[in-house]
Amino acid sequence: MAQVTLQVFRGDANGGEFVDYTVEVDEGQVVLDVVHTVQATQAADLAVRWNCKAGKCGSCSAEVNGKPLLMCMTRMSTLDVSQPISIAPIKTFPLIRDLVTDVSFNYEAASQIPAFAPCAPNADDGTYRMMQQDVERGQEFRKCIECFLCQNVCHVIRDHPENKPNFLGPRQFVHLAELEMHPLDTADRTEFIRKTGGIAYCNITKCCTEVCPESIHITDNAIIPLKERIADKYYDPFRWIFSKLTGRD
Ligand code: SF4
Ligand code: SF4
Ligand code: FES
Repeated sequence: MAQVTLQVFRGDANGGEFVDYTVEVDEGQVVLDVVHTVQATQAADLAVRWNCKAGKCGSCSAEVNGKPLLMCMTRMSTLDVSQPISIAPIKTFPLIRDLVTDVSFNYEAASQIPAFAPCAPNADDGTYRMMQQDVERGQEFRKCIECFLCQNVCHVIRDHPENKPNFLGPRQFVHLAELEMHPLDTADRTEFIRKTGGIAYCNITKCCTEVCPESIHITDNAIIPLKERIADKYYDPFRWIFSKLTGRD
Protein backbone atom coordinates (compact mmCIF):
# COMPACT_ATOMS: atom_id res chain seq x y z
CA MET A 1 0.00 0.00 0.00
CA ALA A 2 1.36 3.42 -0.99
CA GLN A 3 0.01 6.91 -1.30
CA VAL A 4 -0.23 8.68 -4.63
CA THR A 5 -1.33 12.14 -5.69
CA LEU A 6 -3.44 12.23 -8.82
CA GLN A 7 -3.79 15.55 -10.61
CA VAL A 8 -7.15 15.07 -12.31
CA PHE A 9 -8.58 17.50 -14.81
CA ARG A 10 -11.89 18.90 -13.58
CA GLY A 11 -13.96 21.11 -15.83
CA ASP A 12 -16.12 21.37 -18.90
CA ALA A 13 -16.24 23.14 -22.26
CA ASN A 14 -16.10 26.49 -20.47
CA GLY A 15 -12.75 25.73 -18.84
CA GLY A 16 -11.25 23.86 -15.92
CA GLU A 17 -8.12 23.02 -13.94
CA PHE A 18 -6.16 20.11 -12.54
CA VAL A 19 -7.18 19.22 -8.96
CA ASP A 20 -4.95 17.21 -6.60
CA TYR A 21 -6.31 14.12 -4.86
CA THR A 22 -4.10 12.00 -2.58
CA VAL A 23 -5.28 8.40 -2.16
CA GLU A 24 -4.01 4.94 -1.23
CA VAL A 25 -2.92 2.55 -3.98
CA ASP A 26 -3.13 -1.21 -3.51
CA GLU A 27 -0.82 -3.70 -5.15
CA GLY A 28 -1.97 -4.69 -8.64
CA GLN A 29 -4.24 -1.70 -9.14
CA VAL A 30 -4.59 0.07 -12.46
CA VAL A 31 -5.07 3.80 -13.05
CA LEU A 32 -8.84 3.35 -13.43
CA ASP A 33 -9.00 1.73 -9.95
CA VAL A 34 -7.34 4.76 -8.40
CA VAL A 35 -9.62 7.16 -10.28
CA HIS A 36 -12.54 5.16 -8.87
CA THR A 37 -11.04 5.52 -5.38
CA VAL A 38 -10.98 9.29 -5.89
CA GLN A 39 -14.59 9.17 -7.08
CA ALA A 40 -15.68 7.00 -4.11
CA THR A 41 -13.89 8.95 -1.39
CA GLN A 42 -13.33 12.55 -2.45
CA ALA A 43 -15.12 13.55 -5.66
CA ALA A 44 -18.44 11.76 -6.15
CA ASP A 45 -19.25 14.02 -9.10
CA LEU A 46 -16.07 13.17 -11.05
CA ALA A 47 -17.09 12.20 -14.59
CA VAL A 48 -15.20 9.22 -16.04
CA ARG A 49 -16.28 6.84 -18.80
CA TRP A 50 -15.59 3.12 -18.56
CA ASN A 51 -17.41 -0.15 -19.11
CA CYS A 52 -15.38 -3.35 -19.22
CA LYS A 53 -12.22 -2.78 -17.16
CA ALA A 54 -10.66 -5.38 -19.42
CA GLY A 55 -9.23 -3.38 -22.34
CA LYS A 56 -12.08 -4.36 -24.64
CA CYS A 57 -14.72 -1.61 -24.67
CA GLY A 58 -12.41 1.28 -25.56
CA SER A 59 -14.19 3.69 -23.20
CA CYS A 60 -11.52 4.65 -20.68
CA SER A 61 -9.05 6.42 -22.98
CA ALA A 62 -7.21 9.28 -21.28
CA GLU A 63 -3.85 11.04 -21.22
CA VAL A 64 -1.87 9.86 -18.19
CA ASN A 65 1.24 11.96 -17.57
CA GLY A 66 0.62 13.23 -21.09
CA LYS A 67 0.62 9.74 -22.62
CA PRO A 68 -2.54 8.51 -24.39
CA LEU A 69 -3.58 5.11 -23.04
CA LEU A 70 -6.37 2.99 -21.59
CA MET A 71 -6.71 3.68 -17.85
CA CYS A 72 -7.93 0.13 -17.17
CA MET A 73 -4.85 -1.43 -18.78
CA THR A 74 -2.23 0.79 -17.17
CA ARG A 75 -0.86 -0.64 -13.93
CA MET A 76 0.08 1.84 -11.26
CA SER A 77 3.31 -0.15 -10.83
CA THR A 78 4.43 1.13 -14.25
CA LEU A 79 4.23 4.75 -13.03
CA ASP A 80 6.43 6.67 -10.61
CA VAL A 81 4.00 7.09 -7.71
CA SER A 82 6.49 9.23 -5.77
CA GLN A 83 5.53 12.03 -8.17
CA PRO A 84 2.04 13.43 -8.86
CA ILE A 85 0.37 11.68 -11.80
CA SER A 86 -1.67 13.83 -14.18
CA ILE A 87 -4.85 12.47 -15.72
CA ALA A 88 -6.46 14.47 -18.51
CA PRO A 89 -9.21 13.77 -21.03
CA ILE A 90 -8.16 12.94 -24.59
CA LYS A 91 -7.59 16.23 -26.34
CA THR A 92 -8.85 15.91 -29.90
CA PHE A 93 -12.57 15.75 -29.13
CA PRO A 94 -14.84 18.28 -27.42
CA LEU A 95 -14.86 18.03 -23.65
CA ILE A 96 -18.17 17.15 -22.00
CA ARG A 97 -16.97 17.10 -18.39
CA ASP A 98 -13.84 16.11 -16.45
CA LEU A 99 -12.43 12.99 -18.19
CA VAL A 100 -15.33 12.49 -20.62
CA THR A 101 -15.19 13.75 -24.19
CA ASP A 102 -17.71 13.73 -27.02
CA VAL A 103 -16.34 11.21 -29.54
CA SER A 104 -19.33 11.36 -31.88
CA PHE A 105 -17.04 12.69 -34.65
CA ASN A 106 -15.79 9.12 -35.02
CA TYR A 107 -19.25 7.59 -35.32
CA GLU A 108 -20.32 10.21 -37.84
CA ALA A 109 -17.17 9.48 -39.87
CA ALA A 110 -17.88 5.73 -39.70
CA SER A 111 -21.46 6.21 -40.87
CA GLN A 112 -20.21 7.64 -44.18
CA ILE A 113 -18.20 4.55 -45.15
CA PRO A 114 -19.78 2.48 -47.94
CA ALA A 115 -20.87 -0.79 -46.36
CA PHE A 116 -19.63 -4.32 -47.08
CA ALA A 117 -21.04 -5.45 -50.43
CA PRO A 118 -20.70 -9.24 -50.69
CA CYS A 119 -20.29 -11.04 -53.99
CA ALA A 120 -22.46 -14.04 -54.89
CA PRO A 121 -21.51 -17.28 -53.08
CA ASN A 122 -18.25 -18.51 -54.56
CA ALA A 123 -18.34 -22.21 -53.59
CA ASP A 124 -20.15 -25.11 -55.30
CA ASP A 125 -22.27 -25.74 -52.22
CA GLY A 126 -23.73 -22.22 -52.37
CA THR A 127 -21.63 -20.85 -49.51
CA TYR A 128 -18.46 -18.78 -49.30
CA ARG A 129 -14.78 -19.70 -49.14
CA MET A 130 -11.84 -17.50 -48.18
CA MET A 131 -8.10 -18.20 -48.08
CA GLN A 132 -6.79 -18.43 -44.50
CA GLN A 133 -4.30 -15.67 -45.37
CA ASP A 134 -7.20 -13.31 -46.19
CA VAL A 135 -8.99 -14.27 -42.98
CA GLU A 136 -5.91 -13.42 -40.93
CA ARG A 137 -5.38 -10.08 -42.68
CA GLY A 138 -8.92 -9.02 -41.78
CA GLN A 139 -8.61 -10.33 -38.21
CA GLU A 140 -5.91 -7.80 -37.42
CA PHE A 141 -8.20 -4.93 -38.39
CA ARG A 142 -11.15 -6.43 -36.53
CA LYS A 143 -9.23 -6.28 -33.25
CA CYS A 144 -10.02 -2.54 -33.09
CA ILE A 145 -11.86 -1.67 -29.86
CA GLU A 146 -12.70 1.90 -30.94
CA CYS A 147 -10.77 3.53 -28.13
CA PHE A 148 -9.96 6.38 -30.54
CA LEU A 149 -6.48 6.84 -29.11
CA CYS A 150 -5.17 6.78 -32.69
CA GLN A 151 -7.60 9.52 -33.66
CA ASN A 152 -6.57 11.45 -30.55
CA VAL A 153 -2.87 11.57 -31.41
CA CYS A 154 -3.23 12.15 -35.15
CA HIS A 155 -1.82 15.64 -35.67
CA VAL A 156 -4.01 16.17 -38.74
CA ILE A 157 -7.02 16.68 -36.47
CA ARG A 158 -5.43 17.07 -33.00
CA ASP A 159 -3.74 20.33 -33.92
CA HIS A 160 -6.13 21.32 -36.70
CA PRO A 161 -9.79 20.74 -35.85
CA GLU A 162 -10.65 22.57 -39.06
CA ASN A 163 -9.47 19.44 -40.93
CA LYS A 164 -12.13 17.24 -39.32
CA PRO A 165 -14.72 17.68 -42.11
CA ASN A 166 -12.14 16.50 -44.66
CA PHE A 167 -10.34 13.69 -42.84
CA LEU A 168 -11.79 10.47 -41.42
CA GLY A 169 -8.71 9.50 -39.41
CA PRO A 170 -6.66 6.33 -38.75
CA ARG A 171 -9.43 4.33 -37.06
CA GLN A 172 -11.57 4.72 -40.14
CA PHE A 173 -8.65 3.85 -42.44
CA VAL A 174 -8.35 0.58 -40.50
CA HIS A 175 -12.02 -0.13 -41.17
CA LEU A 176 -11.67 0.87 -44.83
CA ALA A 177 -8.65 -1.41 -45.23
CA GLU A 178 -10.64 -4.29 -43.73
CA LEU A 179 -13.40 -3.73 -46.31
CA GLU A 180 -11.13 -3.03 -49.27
CA MET A 181 -8.97 -6.12 -48.68
CA HIS A 182 -11.92 -8.42 -48.08
CA PRO A 183 -11.87 -10.95 -50.95
CA LEU A 184 -15.67 -11.28 -50.96
CA ASP A 185 -16.38 -7.56 -51.13
CA THR A 186 -17.32 -6.00 -54.47
CA ALA A 187 -17.41 -2.26 -53.70
CA ASP A 188 -14.69 0.11 -54.88
CA ARG A 189 -14.02 2.74 -52.20
CA THR A 190 -10.86 4.29 -53.65
CA GLU A 191 -12.58 7.51 -54.73
CA PHE A 192 -14.25 7.74 -51.29
CA ILE A 193 -10.94 7.17 -49.49
CA ARG A 194 -9.23 9.82 -51.61
CA LYS A 195 -11.92 12.49 -51.47
CA THR A 196 -14.07 12.03 -48.36
CA GLY A 197 -11.43 10.09 -46.40
CA GLY A 198 -8.74 12.69 -47.06
CA ILE A 199 -6.00 10.07 -46.84
CA ALA A 200 -3.53 12.44 -48.52
CA TYR A 201 -3.44 14.48 -45.28
CA CYS A 202 -1.71 11.52 -43.61
CA ASN A 203 2.07 11.81 -43.83
CA ILE A 204 2.73 8.40 -42.24
CA THR A 205 4.19 9.67 -38.96
CA LYS A 206 3.04 6.40 -37.32
CA CYS A 207 1.93 8.16 -34.10
CA CYS A 208 -1.39 6.31 -34.43
CA THR A 209 0.34 2.92 -34.59
CA GLU A 210 2.45 3.69 -31.53
CA VAL A 211 -0.56 4.22 -29.25
CA CYS A 212 -2.85 1.44 -30.48
CA PRO A 213 -3.57 -0.84 -27.48
CA GLU A 214 -4.44 -3.68 -29.86
CA SER A 215 -1.05 -3.40 -31.62
CA ILE A 216 -2.71 -2.98 -35.01
CA HIS A 217 -0.10 -1.95 -37.59
CA ILE A 218 -2.28 0.95 -38.66
CA THR A 219 0.20 2.68 -40.96
CA ASP A 220 2.05 -0.29 -42.46
CA ASN A 221 -0.90 -2.64 -42.92
CA ALA A 222 -3.85 -0.28 -43.47
CA ILE A 223 -2.88 3.25 -44.50
CA ILE A 224 0.08 2.54 -46.78
CA PRO A 225 -1.74 -0.18 -48.80
CA LEU A 226 -4.72 2.17 -49.19
CA LYS A 227 -2.43 4.96 -50.37
CA GLU A 228 -0.82 2.53 -52.84
CA ARG A 229 -4.23 1.57 -54.27
CA ILE A 230 -5.05 5.22 -54.82
CA ALA A 231 -1.66 5.94 -56.40
CA ASP A 232 -2.16 2.95 -58.72
CA LYS A 233 -5.61 4.06 -59.75
CA TYR A 234 -5.14 7.80 -60.12
CA TYR A 235 -1.46 8.40 -60.68
CA ASP A 236 -0.21 5.39 -62.69
CA PRO A 237 0.21 6.74 -66.29
CA PHE A 238 -0.07 3.29 -67.91
CA ARG A 239 -3.24 2.54 -66.02
CA TRP A 240 -4.60 5.98 -66.98
CA ILE A 241 -3.93 5.37 -70.71
CA PHE A 242 -5.46 1.87 -70.47
CA SER A 243 -8.54 3.32 -68.81
CA LYS A 244 -8.92 6.04 -71.44
CA LEU A 245 -8.51 3.56 -74.33
CA THR A 246 -10.80 0.86 -72.97
CA GLY A 247 -13.19 2.83 -70.76
CA ARG A 248 -12.41 0.35 -67.94
CA ASP A 249 -10.77 0.93 -64.53
S1 SF4 B 1 0.33 8.06 -39.63
FE1 SF4 B 1 -1.24 9.32 -40.62
S2 SF4 B 1 -3.15 8.76 -39.64
FE2 SF4 B 1 -1.49 8.01 -38.30
S3 SF4 B 1 -1.14 9.68 -36.83
FE3 SF4 B 1 0.28 10.03 -38.54
S4 SF4 B 1 -0.80 11.42 -39.94
FE4 SF4 B 1 -2.36 10.54 -38.54
S1 SF4 C 1 -7.10 1.25 -34.35
FE1 SF4 C 1 -6.21 0.86 -32.30
S2 SF4 C 1 -5.94 2.92 -31.40
FE2 SF4 C 1 -7.36 3.14 -33.14
S3 SF4 C 1 -9.40 2.99 -32.27
FE3 SF4 C 1 -8.82 0.91 -32.94
S4 SF4 C 1 -7.90 -0.04 -31.14
FE4 SF4 C 1 -7.96 2.16 -30.72
S1 FES D 1 -12.91 0.14 -19.36
FE1 FES D 1 -13.13 -0.92 -21.25
S2 FES D 1 -11.25 -0.55 -22.26
FE2 FES D 1 -10.96 0.35 -20.30
